[in-house]
Amino acid sequence: MAQFPPVPSHYRVPDRSKYPELARYSRNEIYNDTFGGGALYLTALIARNMELKPGEIVLDLGCGKGASSVYLARTFGVQVVALDLWTPVDYLNEKFNREGYRNQIIPLNLDIAGPLPFAQGYFDKIFCQNSLNFYGGSQTFLSHLLKFLKPGGLIGMGMETLSREFNAEELSDPPAVYNYFLPGTDINVWEADFSKMHSPAWWGKLFEDSGLVKEVKWQELPDAIILYEDLVRYQIENETDLDDVLISIKQLEFARTAQPAKTLFTLSARKLV
Ligand SMILES: C[S@@+](CC[C@H](N)C(=O)[O-])C[C@H]1O[C@@H](n2cnc3c(N)ncnc32)[C@H](O)[C@@H]1O
Repeated sequence: MAQFPPVPSHYRVPDRSKYPELARYSRNEIYNDTFGGGALYLTALIARNMELKPGEIVLDLGCGKGASSVYLARTFGVQVVALDLWTPVDYLNEKFNREGYRNQIIPLNLDIAGPLPFAQGYFDKIFCQNSLNFYGGSQTFLSHLLKFLKPGGLIGMGMETLSREFNAEELSDPPAVYNYFLPGTDINVWEADFSKMHSPAWWGKLFEDSGLVKEVKWQELPDAIILYEDLVRYQIENETDLDDVLISIKQLEFARTAQPAKTLFTLSARKLV
């Protein structure tokens, strides 16, 4: 049986002083119940761009296991609609009850791409972490989603992605670190995931071109690779997600000399009035 490797000796840790919002969070609290790169570090950066005010109604789109929903409710005193497709709503309900947010966070199981039960312009803000890439890379989707954001409201998103678009040669012969089957499954990760990834600039242009928003701002995280390294360190220390650890180490090694490399970015935009 495969063993957890040691943490590669050159792996770094994030500079926590750049994240004062998380000063009182333990490493477990930063990583627990988050999927994907960035964890609560990325949550904190996305939220900084959103001008959140107590009492506002925020959609946490693709909330996963709800860590970001709790962070938003706790840090900003906002009301959160925590919407996800894959996480059972009972898991979310139990978590929000246990953590004391029953009156502040509403859990929902919905497919965001389908018909939605919300009034037009219902949300003051929309937050989305490591999720929009699964369904949201089209003008059709943006016009569907933004109907539910109030005029002048902000959408803040952030996700793991790759630093640049694949060229034609790479599309026909993808780098091995992005072209593999999920161990023990018939899921081809290239087809399901990496082939659909887009660069931060691509996402910025998608929002710009929508004609529905202004003030589109995006930024690749300067410490993205460090955050990925720290996630691997956390997984090894806690002996979780061995398969993810093994492929992440290869992808980070690839990123030292080659492109497109794994990265993280944030994006915010204001809906036109
Ligand atoms: C990689 S996880 C990220 C979860 C969470 N935001 C986080 O950062 O931990 C992607 C999430 O997107 C959600 N998702 C995928 N397709 C969706 C859809 N069509 N409607 C709503 N949520 C969706 C999944 O349920 C999943 O929890």
